[in-house]
Amino acid sequence: MEKKNIDWENLGFGYYKTDKRYVSNYKDGKWDNGCITEDSMVAISECAGVIHYCQTCFEGMKAYTTQDGHVVVFRPDMNAQRMYDSAVRLEIPPFPVERFVDAVEQTVKANLEYVPPFGTGAALYIRPVLFATGPVMGVKPAQEYQFRVFASPVGPYFKKGSASSLVLKVSDYDRSAPNGTGHIKAGLNYAMSLYPIVTAHNEGFNENMYLDPQTRTKVEETGGANFFFVTADNKVVTPKSSSILPSITRHSLMTLAQNLGYEVEEREVYLSEIGDFVECGLCGTAAVISPVGKVNDHGREIIFKNSQNGMGPISKQLYETLTGIQFGKIAGPDGWVRKIV
Ligand SMILES: Cc1ncc(COP(=O)(O)O)c(C=O)c1O
Repeated sequence: MEKKNIDWENLGFGYYKTDKRYVSNYKDGKWDNGCITEDSMVAISECAGVIHYCQTCFEGMKAYTTQDGHVVVFRPDMNAQRMYDSAVRLEIPPFPVERFVDAVEQTVKANLEYVPPFGTGAALYIRPVLFATGPVMGVKPAQEYQFRVFASPVGPYFKKGSASSLVLKVSDYDRSAPNGTGHIKAGLNYAMSLYPIVTAHNEGFNENMYLDPQTRTKVEETGGANFFFVTADNKVVTPKSSSILPSITRHSLMTLAQNLGYEVEEREVYLSEIGDFVECGLCGTAAVISPVGKVNDHGREIIFKNSQNGMGPISKQLYETLTGIQFGKIAGPDGWVRKIV
């Protein structure tokens, strides 16, 4: 099959419209059969629940071309379950897990010309969305919804790439509330993170480090990725909190770190202790692993000595292992890679 004529190596992380997407609508208490369509536009009522009350959630995962020419998706069942959980919390009728995985598969198959070739470093980003299309005026759940899966070829999330390190600021804003929606992938979490991220960028930082919304003493995550740290004695530590998004990448990395023989700890991480860590990284589908060199806490600089100039040795090993599995160079744990073709 002919690939599209795209400059794969220089793709950024953005929307590149592909030919086909999957759509299913919810009406009269049930999801319809769904189908692949070429229509990239969504026409909804001006009074749709998504517009006023942000009744929407989304997901993100990637399809990769492997070394031996197959196309695979990384752990779509985990995204399916996370979207299910998001929907329940937002009073949206959940889209069934098996149907989600099937819809992802159909979308990737329908857009194979857009899956970046092996060796380009790029991947096909898959974006399922689930939102209220039905009109609501009072504050209540809508009666009609749409589930849609579209895809876009993408390159790295952070322009600098993995060779240089990110500089973060400790944010004065919160991305979630205690007992709120930080643990689900609700659109509203991202709307409220836009002001802080634009502010951080204007001040010359790559990202925000958010603290726990209750005590503002513990590390949570950034606007689009989880954290992991490495101690001086090679322990891999990741923050535990009920208000961060449970990253599938992080979950996978912790398993891989354990398999590689490292001690792994998911625990509360205090801002006051992070200066003791020697490596820091962001992890997520889009970020993959992006090294953090410095965190600025209101003028106080916290430096991670082994990830100051690109990934530290343990981050690098985890990165090679994870991407090795995704690109079919290394066999991963059972069920992690779903072969599409
Ligand atoms: C707030 C937030 N945290 C973490 C992640 C990373 O999650 P995952 O590894 O499942 O992509 C994302 C991206 O999906 C995110 O938006």
